[in-house]
Amino acid sequence: MAAIFTTPKFSPTPTASISTSSHKLNPKTSHHSLLNVSSKPAHPPFPYTSARRTSVSCSHPQQTPTTTMRRRPDYIPNRIPDPSYVRIFDTTLRDGEQSPGASLTSKEKLDIARQLARLGVDIIEAGFPAASKDDFEAVKAIATDVGNAVDKDGYVPVICGLSRCNEKDIRTAWEAVKYAKRPRIHTFIATSAIHMEYKLRKTKEEVIEIARSMVRFARSLGCEDVEFSPEDAGRSDREFLYEILGEVIKAGATTLNIPDTVGITVPSEFGKLIADIKSNTPGIENVIISTHCQNDLGLSTANTVAGACAGARQLEVTINGIGERAGNASLEEVVMTLRCHGEDLFGGLYTGINTRHIYTTSKMVEEYTGMFVQPHKAIVGANAFAHESGIHQDGMLKHKGTYEIIAPEDIGFERANEAGIVLGKLSGRHALKKRLEELGYELDAEQLENIFWRFKAVADQKKRITDADLRALVSDEVFQPEVVWKLHDLQVTCGTLCLPTATVKLIGVDGRAHVACSVGTGPVDSAYKAVDLIVKEPVTLLEYSMSAVTEGIDAIATTRVLIRGENSHTATLAYTGETVHRTFSGVGSGMDIVVSSVKAYISALNKMSGFKGMSPLKSGAERTAVSA
Ligand code: KIV
Repeated sequence: MAAIFTTPKFSPTPTASISTSSHKLNPKTSHHSLLNVSSKPAHPPFPYTSARRTSVSCSHPQQTPTTTMRRRPDYIPNRIPDPSYVRIFDTTLRDGEQSPGASLTSKEKLDIARQLARLGVDIIEAGFPAASKDDFEAVKAIATDVGNAVDKDGYVPVICGLSRCNEKDIRTAWEAVKYAKRPRIHTFIATSAIHMEYKLRKTKEEVIEIARSMVRFARSLGCEDVEFSPEDAGRSDREFLYEILGEVIKAGATTLNIPDTVGITVPSEFGKLIADIKSNTPGIENVIISTHCQNDLGLSTANTVAGACAGARQLEVTINGIGERAGNASLEEVVMTLRCHGEDLFGGLYTGINTRHIYTTSKMVEEYTGMFVQPHKAIVGANAFAHESGIHQDGMLKHKGTYEIIAPEDIGFERANEAGIVLGKLSGRHALKKRLEELGYELDAEQLENIFWRFKAVADQKKRITDADLRALVSDEVFQPEVVWKLHDLQVTCGTLCLPTATVKLIGVDGRAHVACSVGTGPVDSAYKAVDLIVKEPVTLLEYSMSAVTEGIDAIATTRVLIRGENSHTATLAYTGETVHRTFSGVGSGMDIVVSSVKAYISALNKMSGFKGMSPLKSGAERTAVSA
């Protein structure tokens, strides 16, 4: 996954080009109330392909800015004062966490929620509180912390909890979110014939009655912001949808979310579904319509945008598009599409997202969930701003708009040395801090000090430290679960003349050193076995992968592992109520591949120990253990 950025410096001379939405944000500016918008009225054309098209690129320093800044509209649950404004509802922590292997600890969820607030998302779906005690505590912590961090412009995200349509789930969701300044309950029940017949075993009338009474119940708890989703709306009978949606509006729902749960629809069809609901549902003018598009056919972003053009004013998305099966519409794709075309194709639609935080948020979610972003992923992939072929490089040298429609800085991606700073072994803390800030990292003094010493160690072996090196160091230091075990020393012998043998020294939470030694089938296997002898938690290693994040023989290697604990760590699936075993991912980086592998393994073990009910030292590691 080496990122290759061969592009030379941008030419400072602006050239003649047509642009309707170029705009460069100051990363230091609070962007929560000043938004990149057009001054045209909201009148999204549908189908939008017929609209006049004038832009040649979305944003680039070489383009002339023509947009104005506008305040984020006040938050009123069922109404948006500005009809052009589109709310972004992020469900990375709920639907995203449903991705196989993406389990997040409470601390990681809180970190991601804080980052989502920096990004300026309108609503954070913080989890499914009834799933487990851990999920409940995580949502409550986010509601209490992020849900009360009002900025100077009055922005604070709504904190939402998911619940099935039953009193216990709804009450639990309310108990978790009620601490937020703007709490929301999101309740859902399936409305497609196949789900009602085989999953729910209920008639249409019964489903309507449950939906109506549960929305009313949510309101009766004191919650003034209630979202209702007819699950599998994409395959539900239209007339039935109009009827159930009309009933939940009467019962007090403030947002109606229309999920394409199985990702079956195509953009024209999904846009029509939203338009039909808008025209035929009684009382719809009093609520917000929302989209929730899964990516089974790879159409989730296109469907979401079609929904916005047809009248939806809340879009449900996840960072990096993670989620059930093939994932969800990705925040970065949807937001950048609206930013690129809000004005010229979509009648002035805009969001409140501070796009400069996209890249850092994507990296954080990648590291914490262990779900790597494919190199050619739109907007945030390693190759999204890389130009390899001679023809492209030549074009980029002459004008960056030839092959780039988005300026990398607009998503917070800085090309190495654009700021003129060359980091190497003589660089001090100040230069390092400045570069990290430019890359979007806000680190406390202790984190900075730790990264500085690790930076020095890498700089001793590498002449020039790239941004990718820095990101790997930060990820390793900051995006880690709470430390229960820490790697102190590792020694391995391997090759054709001996049995692969590893000696490992770990420091436990109690500060004591634990040493173990083991043989194995190779250096990594023997090191993992030595770690097992100390940690004494039976686990199964499900996945192991390694990639070089930087180039050359002195590259930093990043390892990702996925483990499953044999002592049960379970959660309840939102859709089915089924109990599943959690898996835990861990990521580690280093120039030594065995060290990187062991750090990843320990990181996954730490994450597993971080879940409630686990006592990290319960099994009592021995001071010295030796296995043959
Ligand atoms: O995909 C889906 O239907 C959902 C709903 C709960 C919104 O995630």
